Order: sequence, then C-alpha cells, then structure tokens
Amino acid sequence: MVQLTTPQPSRDPAPTVKAQKLAYLLFELPDLNRAETFLVDFGLTVAHREADALYLRGTGTEPFCYCARRGDQPRFVGFGLEVSAADDLQKLAALAGASSIHTAPHPGGGQCVRLQDPSGFIVEAVSDQTPVAPRPHRAPLDLNYAQQTPRVNATQRPPLAAPEVLKLGHVVLEVADFQATCGWYTQHFGFIPSDVQVFPDGSPGVVFMRLDLGDTPADHHTMAMAQGIMPAYSHSAYELVDADAVGVGQRVLRERGWKHAWGIGRHILGSQIFDYWQDPWGFKLEHYCDGDVFTADAPMGVYPLSRDAMSQWGQKMPGSFTKPKLTPATLRATVHHLRKSPDLTLRKLMTLAKLFA
Ligand SMILES: [Fe+2]
Repeated sequence: MVQLTTPQPSRDPAPTVKAQKLAYLLFELPDLNRAETFLVDFGLTVAHREADALYLRGTGTEPFCYCARRGDQPRFVGFGLEVSAADDLQKLAALAGASSIHTAPHPGGGQCVRLQDPSGFIVEAVSDQTPVAPRPHRAPLDLNYAQQTPRVNATQRPPLAAPEVLKLGHVVLEVADFQATCGWYTQHFGFIPSDVQVFPDGSPGVVFMRLDLGDTPADHHTMAMAQGIMPAYSHSAYELVDADAVGVGQRVLRERGWKHAWGIGRHILGSQIFDYWQDPWGFKLEHYCDGDVFTADAPMGVYPLSRDAMSQWGQKMPGSFTKPKLTPATLRATVHHLRKSPDLTLRKLMTLAKLFA
C-alpha cells in the first residue's frame, strides 16, 4: 500500500479564498509575431495585439487565456486565477507580499491582486473581468459504435484546419520547494489534491489539483506540480471539442513544421486524450479532450511515481519530455536547490533520473 508521508499535498479546511478558474497564462517572449503564428496554428484566436503585448483567447467568454509580452529572454512569468468577488481580493491583498487591489492591466479589465508564490511564480488573482461574446465552434462529432449507430446516411468530415481551443484547462509547474509551494496553493486558493504520485519514501513526486467548486464538477486538475530541480514551467493544456480535433490538430501542426513533444495517448490520472507540442522556444502546450471531472467531496488517490503511469495507450512518454536542458545555469540552480530546498535530495534526483531517463 502506497502512502503519503508529508503534510502536503492536503486540502485546507478553511482556505483564504477558493479560486474559481484558471484565467490566463503570462509569458515573456522575444518574438511576438512568431508566437502568434504558432499559437494560431495551435488553435487560439488573437484577442488583442499591441506593439509589445499579444493576447489570445479560446471560443469561450473569457476575454483572453494567453498573454505574451515582449522580453529579451523567453520566460514563463505566471498565471491568473479568477476569484469570486472583491471580498476575496481583500483577503488576498492582506497576505504578506501581496499588492494592493488595482485595475487589472489586461483586456477585460476587472480588479486584481498580484502575488508571488514561494517558488517565485507570479499569481494574479482577478475578479469582475468583462466577458466577451463566445465564438462559434464545431459541435462534437456524432460517433457510431458497433451496437449503436446514431449517424445514418451521413459521413464524418471534420474540417482540416487548426482545431478550435475551447478553453485553457490546466498549468503544470516544476518546483524545488514542493511542500511550501503546494501548501501555499492549497491554503490560499483552496486547491484540492485529486491524485498524488509518490517517491519510494512517500514524499510527493507529482500532485494533480482541482478547483473547489463544491457540488459543481471540476476538472481533475487545473494545476499540477512536480518535484523538480528548480522552479520551471512544464506545460499548459487547452481543451478541444473531441478526439478528432486532437487528431486534426496533430496533422495541422505537423504539416506546418512545428515540433511535436508527446502523443497522441490517453492519460491515466485525469484520463484525458492528449497531444503535446512545443512552441518556438520549447515551451510545451497540450491539446486534450475527454478529461475526468470531480466534485469537491471525492477523496485523494495515492500512487507510486512511475513513467508507465503517465498513459494508458499511445506513445509512451519519451525521456526527452521531462529532461531539463543541461546548461551551466540549470546545473548551478540544481546545486543551489539541493543545498537550500528541504524537499530536494540527491536520492530523489537519482530516482527521477532513473525513472525518466
Ligand atoms: Fe497536462
């Protein structure tokens, strides 16, 4: 029987606020034109463009879900979490290091409090954004099965075009200080751990966390966190209408010369059908559909950390998927975090290297 041996991940009985949505991601990129070309091929739509800022959206009513500002170095900055009301923002603004409540500096406006998590990622808590009109998207395909054929005298012809992204689904971070960072999100934003994969010593390797929406079903994970050697962006995921859209997406992105990372397959924890791609700077973005949803009362699952546990079928996770780039900077960061972070040990590093080599 696998058991968790550390305080985190665990749900907080009385979090500061309960986040309602992953609103958007924030990047700095050196070439916004190239970013736009990739992201439009990936299935997003430009929502707003300035000389030094690029905003993209899905088909929902969110004003944007991806923001890139021009920067010399490609960098993941952080993300926006939607909270219910001004009341929540007041509670967050009282936390150590938080900004005061101010007008959000993005399309859709609203009120915002800017925070920094213990690993250095920026979190913008945002409320009262003005929604936009939804964009039309194709309906899910009507599937025939051997014993059930609702589609008669009609064919399947999903259009061969960039698949429409319906929404931003989740973001996955790697952190060195797992306990402090995971605890910050459960304590202040009410994230509920859905499933955790643990090292042989029972400490967490990866946790998948969902929003606490009470009896309203929430995606199995809106945020996931992995024990890494340093704080880093792993990937973000975007929901498509059905599995054919994932397949069409692969064809389109391949034909346009973009770099594939992993897929198509079906995950185990979360169950999504997935396909991973890389943007021009190597940041990974995932297309997915058919993920699990849970209400707040579902208990946490605990599993051993393993590469085989990453998918049920399809391509096995390639070693390159989790391997950090070995540069003098990453080596320096590894040594730094091995000395400073209570959660990162040489033994865990060796386990990770062996598991994901
Ligand atoms: Fe994912």
